[in-house]
Amino acid sequence: MDWRSLAADICNTHQTCLEINGTDCAQRCGGMAVLNWFDEYQQTSVDVCALVSDVSDWSHQQYVMHVEKSRQASLDTARYVWSRMPVGAVLLLSGSNALGIKSTVKQFAKLVGVEPELKINKQRARVVSFVKHSDVEPYDLLQLQVPADEDESRQLWTVPGVFSANELDKGTALMQDCLVDVAERVDIVDMACGVGHLGLFLLERWPQCSCLFLDADSRALSCLNRNIQDFNYQERARSQWWAAGTQLGEASCDLVVMNPPAHSGKQVDYHAAFTMFRQAHACLRPGGEMYIIANIQLPYEKELKTLLGTFSLVREEDGFKVMCVRKDA
Ligand SMILES: C[S@@+](CC[C@H](N)C(=O)[O-])C[C@H]1O[C@@H](n2cnc3c(N)ncnc32)[C@H](O)[C@@H]1O
Repeated sequence: MDWRSLAADICNTHQTCLEINGTDCAQRCGGMAVLNWFDEYQQTSVDVCALVSDVSDWSHQQYVMHVEKSRQASLDTARYVWSRMPVGAVLLLSGSNALGIKSTVKQFAKLVGVEPELKINKQRARVVSFVKHSDVEPYDLLQLQVPADEDESRQLWTVPGVFSANELDKGTALMQDCLVDVAERVDIVDMACGVGHLGLFLLERWPQCSCLFLDADSRALSCLNRNIQDFNYQERARSQWWAAGTQLGEASCDLVVMNPPAHSGKQVDYHAAFTMFRQAHACLRPGGEMYIIANIQLPYEKELKTLLGTFSLVREEDGFKVMCVRKDA
């Protein structure tokens, strides 16, 4: 059983709720859910929105938040919810021990100055409640900046929880370095784009090109859209909330760049990456190329070599590898 369903056993079915990163309580009590991931968002019948900052109804008496991998993101969202929920309302924080629920609860209790009450402790997971007794100042979600590339002259917006929120990833930087040697293209897809490090790098270098940015995390896309605006690329950039395996529409391009996910939550999982390889290949025109950056240990070559085309290892450095597949003309 998924630990995220534990909280549904104790929520009050006579009151609606707002649930973050899950849907079981909202399903049971009515209300709405916030889901950042496209595939989860698509699969639910609950009333749902993509970003906690899009929530407009803060009149519920109960709030449920399931923690995520990034502690900073969990605390940031919990503080945002806490500052908006009404006095008298309850916040349930739920999470597995593996995701560090104990220390998240401890840190949150310190931040808001309220004693937590342990409600459920089973299946290596906990649900803890906090009752809001007095009003607090509105808390705004953290907005962070990271260098866009190794030049560090431009910055990109990020938020806690998105990929490499606090720094430019070494693999991403290596990929940018390899892309400098690639011949200029016109139609690009940045698959699993995050906040846009790869596609924005190419839009800057190749003034004639356009880029379609795709990612499953609504928070990454919301930062990306802000970055597109800041750099004034609205005419040449499109973004789509999309998860590997779902329809890609009419995309047709001559270059795909990607730094695919190798995890699902805390588990190593290549399924999304392998699906992306096939979808990237399908949207390439004959003669087009896909460039993939990955940690050196990831076993991607075998899968990439099954695609019709020519595989090459472009560079290996600092624990990363850049690979290319050129689709047969
Ligand atoms: C390794 S990060 C790369 C981000 C960015 N390209 C970079 O290099 O900074 C992988 C990205 O894949 C996205 N992602 C994870 N699972 C996904 C899925 N199933 N479908 C589409 N994107 C996914 C994540 O949100 C994340 O932004």
